Amino acid sequence: MQKKITIAIDGYSSCGKSTLAKALAKELEYIFIDSGAMYRGVTVYCLRNNLLPDGIPAVAEIETILGKIDLNFKFNPETKQADLYLNGENIEKLIRLPEVASNVSKIAALKNVRHKLVLEQRKMGNNGGIVMDGRDIGSVVFPAAELKLFITALPEIRAQRRYKELIEKQVETSYDEVLENLRERDYLDSTRTESPLIQTPDAIVIDTSDLTTEEQLNIALNYTLEKVQKL
Ligand code: DC
Repeated sequence: MQKKITIAIDGYSSCGKSTLAKALAKELEYIFIDSGAMYRGVTVYCLRNNLLPDGIPAVAEIETILGKIDLNFKFNPETKQADLYLNGENIEKLIRLPEVASNVSKIAALKNVRHKLVLEQRKMGNNGGIVMDGRDIGSVVFPAAELKLFITALPEIRAQRRYKELIEKQVETSYDEVLENLRERDYLDSTRTESPLIQTPDAIVIDTSDLTTEEQLNIALNYTLEKVQKL
């Protein structure tokens, strides 16, 4: 049997990382983990418990309640995808709401939140055979990942894609709101002190601006096969 490797996919918001990671995992029969969903899950908990008054994280309080947050992915037979559960409740729809999107970068910048989630992510990928997407997967979560992909695309193209996705999910928003939120998140994600989004020297860059999802998948599959064959 072919050895199963760890694949880290990082990049800016809405570059198509999750779509690519999901398709790649399906093709390879690997586990797919959307690490951004976990940061969104913690944000849902904080919003519900008034831990983001006026949009500012109550850092000390958030640290004390982290132990109460239990996040789990469970397979949904209807959608054939993994849904995120927060303390037993399916929050898959909630984590995509604009209110969550506009607050998540602030929560993802907190050291203790990152510490908790990175430990959980590492446990999920202990045995290889995993495709995980996020911002710090190749740099912090799995620095020894056999394959690291860094995905980019023009901001306007990314905003258009995310806008279409949200409209299809019947989330009320505008293109301008999506573009502004995306730029703000890019800025916060790449300038924060704790594990900022960086391109590691060993990562392979894929610009998806002019690529179809199928083309992206083929490129990623070729890189995977190349890596697996060399093991
Ligand atoms: O990929 P996404 O848009 O669902 O990510 C949501 C937020 O979480 C985004 O602001 C970046 C942050 N994030 C992070 O800091 N580290 C990760 N590994 C994944 C996401």
